[in-house]
Amino acid sequence: MTSPPPWDAWDRQHAWHPYTQSAEAALYPALHIARGEGPWLFDTADRRYLDGHSSLWTNVHGHRDPDLDAALRTQLDQVAHATWLGLSHPTASTLAATLARLAGPGLARVFFSDNGSCAVEVALKLSRQFWQLSGQPEKREVVGFAGGYHGDTLATMAVGDSADFHGRFADWFLPAHHVPAPHCLEMTGTVREAESATSLRALRELFTARAAHIAAVVLESSVQGAAGMRQQPPDFIAAVAALCREHGVHLILDEVFVAFGRLGHMLVGQQEGVTPDFLCLAKGLTGGYLPLAATLTSDRIHDAFCGAFEENRTFFHGHTFTANPLAAAVACATVEKLERLLADGTLRARVAAFGNAFAKSFAEHPQAANPRQRGFTAAFDLVPDAHSPQVSFPPSARIGLQVCLEARRRGLILRQLGSTLAFVPPPCCTENEFRFLCETTLAAMNAVFARPGGPHTRFADFAARFDPSPPA
Ligand SMILES: Cc1ncc(COP(=O)(O)O)c(C=O)c1O
Repeated sequence: MTSPPPWDAWDRQHAWHPYTQSAEAALYPALHIARGEGPWLFDTADRRYLDGHSSLWTNVHGHRDPDLDAALRTQLDQVAHATWLGLSHPTASTLAATLARLAGPGLARVFFSDNGSCAVEVALKLSRQFWQLSGQPEKREVVGFAGGYHGDTLATMAVGDSADFHGRFADWFLPAHHVPAPHCLEMTGTVREAESATSLRALRELFTARAAHIAAVVLESSVQGAAGMRQQPPDFIAAVAALCREHGVHLILDEVFVAFGRLGHMLVGQQEGVTPDFLCLAKGLTGGYLPLAATLTSDRIHDAFCGAFEENRTFFHGHTFTANPLAAAVACATVEKLERLLADGTLRARVAAFGNAFAKSFAEHPQAANPRQRGFTAAFDLVPDAHSPQVSFPPSARIGLQVCLEARRRGLILRQLGSTLAFVPPPCCTENEFRFLCETTLAAMNAVFARPGGPHTRFADFAARFDPSPPA
């Protein structure tokens, strides 16, 4: 029998993984995923793992979904790629019409790109150019919310607020303001209305002082994922939209994370009756199969860019794989399938099943502070004692990573956000799979916290003793 190729060595010697400290990752074995089925991923030894973070928050209907696979194969028999610059093709035109139908009146134009950062970057550039074309070139500043994350390109880093990730690039940023973001804990029923009021007051004051110079506000609808599943109270999006309208500032809703079933709806702002000036979509748009993003806007904004070529109103932005036909085909199939699951109540039932399993396991857990859940998103903060949630583990412990590695051993893939444990399961999970997700996390936490002497306070000590094989 021939031995498998040395993937691990190739990976360590030649790959550079995103958001990964290579020196730290060298302390524990890499996990190579060979195939997937439903919400499960299988490694090269055919061990299975529940995909508890939906392959970075993208997967909707599961891996190798028969309907999505069929759509992809049908498109593959036609053409894999043809440029969208100067040409069209039926699949992406169909998708554009579908997205416009879903978004409703006021968002009739769809600009495709291929990742969430670009969807937001495009919205920012469109906003900036719109104001230039409308005789208000001084509107060039942007507004984001505390803890916001909109991607890793320069403009999206500027409007986001992730100093740990992006602070070192700040001297390259465009002019941005940040206002406080509300933070409510839906599962525990703690809606911090006061925080919402603080946030809206800050936005109003900023507009009163600077609206003439502000192009756009960028808001993650309902849940700020990367901030640790920070939730907004109901009607917050509508209140921000009303302030933007009142002060003549564009509203960019970033639904890259939350749309396409993630919160139990197709689109989220729309649930609150909000039509933004720009709507940004990616991730779940293709069910998590292929990179594709879309920025939707109104005919009114689109028409401001129209004129004779020599007037230089054209939006000069595009990417090589914009509106790729394979990605568009799988997106059409994703949406079609999701519409069925929304209409027959399946998705609502699954959200309830996940919420129940999560609450049962973590509402009272002594190391799980601030448990929160909305749709298929949930999180809690790992702390020494949930009754004193302000006391945290030292950063050197990498406590979230310790728990994730113990979960991995037990057949569950999770991802930490610092010392916050994030749960973003594929909406296709069954009740049993949601239960497995929670029970396996409990077992992993027990392995980390209940060891004699307490959890390791240095990750290197944990890694030195870590046995990646499944517990007996
Ligand atoms: C709300 C939000 N916006 C934008 C992005 C960036 O998307 P991408 O990683 O596809 O560039 C993300 C990624 O997690 C996100 O959560």
